[in-house]
Amino acid sequence: MKKHNYSAGPCILPQEVFEKSAQAILDFNNSGLSILEISHRSKDFVAVMEEARALVLELLNLEGKGYEVLFLGGGASLEFLMVPFNLMKVDGKAAYLDTGTWASGAIKEAKHFGETVVVASSKPENYNHIPKGFTIPSDADYFHCTSNNTIFGTQMKSFPEVNIPLVCDMSSDIFSRVLDFSKFDLIYAGAQKNMGPAGATLVVVKKEILGKTGRTIPNMLDYQQHIDKESMYNTPPVFPIYASLLTLQWLKNLGGIAAIEKINEAKANLLYTEIDRNPLFKGAAVKEDRSNMNVTFLLNDEAHQEKFDAMWKAAGISGLPGHRSVGGYRASMYNALPIESVQVLVDVMQELENKI
Ligand SMILES: Cc1ncc(COP(=O)(O)O)c(C=O)c1O
Repeated sequence: MKKHNYSAGPCILPQEVFEKSAQAILDFNNSGLSILEISHRSKDFVAVMEEARALVLELLNLEGKGYEVLFLGGGASLEFLMVPFNLMKVDGKAAYLDTGTWASGAIKEAKHFGETVVVASSKPENYNHIPKGFTIPSDADYFHCTSNNTIFGTQMKSFPEVNIPLVCDMSSDIFSRVLDFSKFDLIYAGAQKNMGPAGATLVVVKKEILGKTGRTIPNMLDYQQHIDKESMYNTPPVFPIYASLLTLQWLKNLGGIAAIEKINEAKANLLYTEIDRNPLFKGAAVKEDRSNMNVTFLLNDEAHQEKFDAMWKAAGISGLPGHRSVGGYRASMYNALPIESVQVLVDVMQELENKI
């Protein structure tokens, strides 16, 4: 039986993506070849890459606005250092907002390249909120933030107006909600939540911000090199890109980001309402900053843990334990998780209340 998969990533993808991916492994486009054995330079795969790049711009409403789309390897973690390599001037500085483990990982890498100003941090409160009211130095080469904090369950509901390039790690909420994506100059995301399987990293970059650092950048780490080679500077992660294309097609057919946003809001509303109503549970993140993707919550009395764990497992739920730095539970509700799975969890929470 298919599980209700709350994994934080890699995570659930649409069932049709699993089915079409499986078919393409056996026989891709009736070619007599598996997607796993074709050249990335073959006509069929070049078409996949072109469609995937175009679909990203279409879904983000960025067509004709000077952006390039890349599918790279290395995960979002490699972008932590590619961003400063490509954007921080020699003797320049960058500004970062510290909202969690991943944001602080990005900060650590930036420090290798130059002055890294942390404009605000919610670390003292174990990252349970998004800092507000900070000042971003206008002479920084860029400002970096993390739109959704996967581990702590917080999400930026608005983004600062800046007159310097705005860079955002959207690994765990890209394609989940309507934003004015043209406000961002560089967006990156590991594929393995809302876009596809692990192994590909999406980078969407406004061309005009590149080439200004005065640094010598190794080819593999140079966005411009990847742009010039249409994201085929080296062998790209062929299969993850194909599965990502299938997921993007699924999203487009559903009605795009506006349609999935409504579904994501309904799912979040269902679960947060239960967390706030049920006297056995409490939310981990400050209410106004709660994430619609990763819902972190705790039992008020840990004595009920064993019983609750047995109940949700028996209901076919998987991947619910929280990250060790928060404890409790984390329900990751990415685009492909159906609202029916959320109802199953809510039912278990109510059943626990009735039993106690
Ligand atoms: C917000 C965020 N940034 C970065 C990462 C690291 O991504 P990767 O494992 O692709 O390097 C993660 C992983 O979960 C994440 O959630």
